[in-house]
Amino acid sequence: MSRHILMCDPTHYRIAYEINPWMRRANAVLTAEAQAQWQGLHATLQGLGVQVDLVEPGPDVPDMTFVANAGIVLGKQFVPANFRYAERQPEAARFIRWFEERGYEIVRIHEPHFWEGEGDVLPYAGQVFAGFRFRTEHRALDHLDEILGTPTVRLELIDPRFYHLDTCFFPITDGLAAYYPPAFNGEARDALRERFADLIEVPEHDALRFACNAFRVDGTVVVNTECDSFTAALRERGYRCVETPTAEFIKAGGSVKCLILMLDAFEGLPSAS
Ligand code: ARG
Repeated sequence: MSRHILMCDPTHYRIAYEINPWMRRANAVLTAEAQAQWQGLHATLQGLGVQVDLVEPGPDVPDMTFVANAGIVLGKQFVPANFRYAERQPEAARFIRWFEERGYEIVRIHEPHFWEGEGDVLPYAGQVFAGFRFRTEHRALDHLDEILGTPTVRLELIDPRFYHLDTCFFPITDGLAAYYPPAFNGEARDALRERFADLIEVPEHDALRFACNAFRVDGTVVVNTECDSFTAALRERGYRCVETPTAEFIKAGGSVKCLILMLDAFEGLPSAS
């Protein structure tokens, strides 16, 4: 879990190109609505006691509000992403500058391999889960394993609508996680079933509303609206759900978790101690 995160306001957010099945240039973002939704999420997280740092958005990088893809943070080290698409690559320098200015050491994975930060690499209870295929390359994870000092649990993604791990998998706590099974190949489904005693199967309706792209703070889960089966499953297990609208961000293929980069979540790994 994380109590210290980075966010980036959506001043320059728009659908300027199409790099996943959600994005259509014709489906324009309603700018005021996006601002209101992002401010709502920001206020919700602060209200839950999360410390939110901000990185400045840039006019040339309309997807930068999806900070989850910036990289991962290991203590005072920042491992920057190597974005798959040229359209997002200019974000890297902006994120690296932000971390450098705050005294972080920049540790890079091999440049020839693509990977997209917390979009595909998620920590949970001393383990790290890594999705690959659409954005992150399997080979990139070899080097990431060395940096992390522990082998990532590799999960192959097979549905292009769920192109990042954080769109279809949500590690919660104490043997509890949620996932959308059809987004994974058989081996990945088995790997998840082995590791979680209680694995919530999110139905397609909720998965398409980015239910798995949620964020937990203590006993509260922050999630997009109208993920009713998912929130019912969480409430049954004693969680409180805060539903916050993110429809304008779903137009670009992202929701709650995509708008967050955790600054303190990889603690407890050999590399971060
Ligand atoms: N439009 C962005 C892209 O395709 C959305 C990124 C969503 N981020 C995430 N962590 N799933 O790269």
